Amino acid sequence: MSTKHIVLHDKAFRLMIENSRLEEAIDSVAAQLNRDFADAPTPPVLLCVLTGSIMFTSELMKRLDFNLEVLSMKLSSYQGTSSTGEIKEVMGLTGSVEGKTVIIIEDIVDTGNTIVELVDILKERGAADVKVCTMLLKPEVYHKSIKMDYVGMEIPPAFIVGFGLDYNELGRNYPDIYVLDPDYPVK
Ligand code: IMP
Repeated sequence: MSTKHIVLHDKAFRLMIENSRLEEAIDSVAAQLNRDFADAPTPPVLLCVLTGSIMFTSELMKRLDFNLEVLSMKLSSYQGTSSTGEIKEVMGLTGSVEGKTVIIIEDIVDTGNTIVELVDILKERGAADVKVCTMLLKPEVYHKSIKMDYVGMEIPPAFIVGFGLDYNELGRNYPDIYVLDPDYPVK
């Protein structure tokens, strides 16, 4: 049986993580959040970091059984298959975080530049507390001091797409995760 591939623009990607494994990881993160926020005095904010986190946020929030608000904002750092290191606020926060506990919902933490910038922005805007929840973490690349409070899965430092993640805006809709396969012929 041949391995499953998708082609996006000029590159091929090979199946790496099936959706069922992602769902198990989300179940586990949701259970931890349900335990930690069951008795929260005020509803926390889930902050969906657009666009990559939309699939993770929607899968996660339907498993959460405490009251919460959902806000979003859009940042961008990636161009093609690598981080530029420069974070741009493409769309501002869709509501107030003043005095609230904010749970950042990230698709993936790679260098951590985005998360560092985001935590600064949220503190500046008056968030009472900031937690980080990421579907995927590349621990071999991440060396910042901000604690990852909730992590779905750790992955090696390769470029991936699917489950919200893109290569130049394509690939977000696939429910599985695919990894760049430079050896696969692209017609
Ligand atoms: P960081 O600032 O380097 O931690 O990168 C964070 C952002 O870069 C993520 O929210 C993604 O949008 C994007 N990103 C990081 N790694 C990948 C990847 O392997 N594939 C697609 N996008 C990625």
